[in-house]
Amino acid sequence: MTELLTDLGRAVDLLRAGRLVAFPTETVYGLGARAADPVAVAGIFVAKGRPQDNPLIVHVADGVEGVVAGWPAVARDLAEAFWPGPLTIVAARDPGFPDAVSAGRSTVAVRCPDHPVALELIRGAGPLAAPSANRSGTPSPTTAQHVLDDLSGRIAAVVDGGPCLHGLESTVVDVTGARPLVLRPGALDVEALEAVVGAVDVHPSVDRPSEVTDARAPGMKYRHYSPAADVWLVEGPPARVRELLDGPDVYGVFVGEARSPQERAFPDVASLARALYAVLRELDALGATRIVVGGVPADGLGRALRNRLRKAASRVLVTPP
Ligand code: TXA
Ligand code: MG
Repeated sequence: MTELLTDLGRAVDLLRAGRLVAFPTETVYGLGARAADPVAVAGIFVAKGRPQDNPLIVHVADGVEGVVAGWPAVARDLAEAFWPGPLTIVAARDPGFPDAVSAGRSTVAVRCPDHPVALELIRGAGPLAAPSANRSGTPSPTTAQHVLDDLSGRIAAVVDGGPCLHGLESTVVDVTGARPLVLRPGALDVEALEAVVGAVDVHPSVDRPSEVTDARAPGMKYRHYSPAADVWLVEGPPARVRELLDGPDVYGVFVGEARSPQERAFPDVASLARALYAVLRELDALGATRIVVGGVPADGLGRALRNRLRKAASRVLVTPP
C-alpha cells in the first residue's frame, strides 16, 4: 500500500531507508529517492516504467557541492537569480557522485525546488533524485491524487502538499558548452534566462519536437505527456478549436472564453499551464475521445506549453495568423 502522508518525519524516514516517496514541488510532483543510493534510484526507473537511458534531476537544498564537478560563472549567475525555482542546470558530474542518476553520463542535472516540503525532505534525507511522479508517458502529476492514480502500490508514499503552483516542469539548461543551451523549455521563460545571462541557445528540437536523438538531450526522443484521448494541437485561435469540436466526447481546451461545457477556457497562459495536465487527466476520466488544445502563444510560457503539446499530439494544425 502506498501511504498518503502529511507527516514529513515519516517521509524522511522512508527516504533514508531507501524507499520511494513522491512529494510536491512548485512545478509538478516528483518521485524521490536518495540520490546517493543507487539501488533506490534504480527503483525509480522500475516504478515509472522509465527508459533506462533517460537521466534524472538531482534536487538540492543548500548548494551543489559533491554533486557537480564544475560550476561555471553562468551557472552561478543562473542559480543566484532563479534558485530556489523552476530552473534545472545540467553541469559536469562530480566523479564521486553515483552515476545511477545520470544514466551513466558525465553530466548531472540539478535543481533547487521552491517548495517548503521538498526542501525539508532534502534537508532531512540528502539530495533527492526525482523525475515527475507519473507513469512514463502520461501527463505529469500536479496533485497527490494524480500520483496515486499512476503509482499506487508501486511506491512507499506520497506527501500531499496540494496542487502545484506552476503545473509545468522546470526549464532545463545545459551549461557545459560555450553558451547556455536550453534543452527543455519550462516554467521559467527563456526570456527571463536571457535577461540574466544574455543570449542563450535553444535546442532545435524544442520548437520542432519529433524523433530527435541528440546525445545531449536524452529526454527529447520519447513520447510524453499523453492522456488516453487523442490530442490535437491547434497553433491558432480558439475559433479554430471550436470548429473541430464535432462530437459529444470531443473537448476543447484554450486560452479564451468558454461557450459550452465541452470547452475548458482559461484567462491567460499561466492559468492554462497550471491546469493543463489536470484537465487532460480529468477529460480522460470523462471518456474523452479527442482533446483539441489551442490559443497558446508561441513565446514565453506558451513556448513550453506548445513543446509539451506537440509531444502529446497526434495532429498539429497550424492556422496562419
Ligand atoms: O520540474 C521538474 O523538472 C520536475 C520536478 C519533479 O522537479 N522534474 C522533472 O523530471 O520533470 P523528469 O525526469 O520528468 O524530466 C527531467 C528532464 C528530462 O528531459 C531529462 O532527459 C533531462 O531532464 N535530464 C536529466 N539529466 C540530464 C542530463 N544529465 N543531461 C541532459 N538532460 C538531462
Ligand atoms: Mg517527466
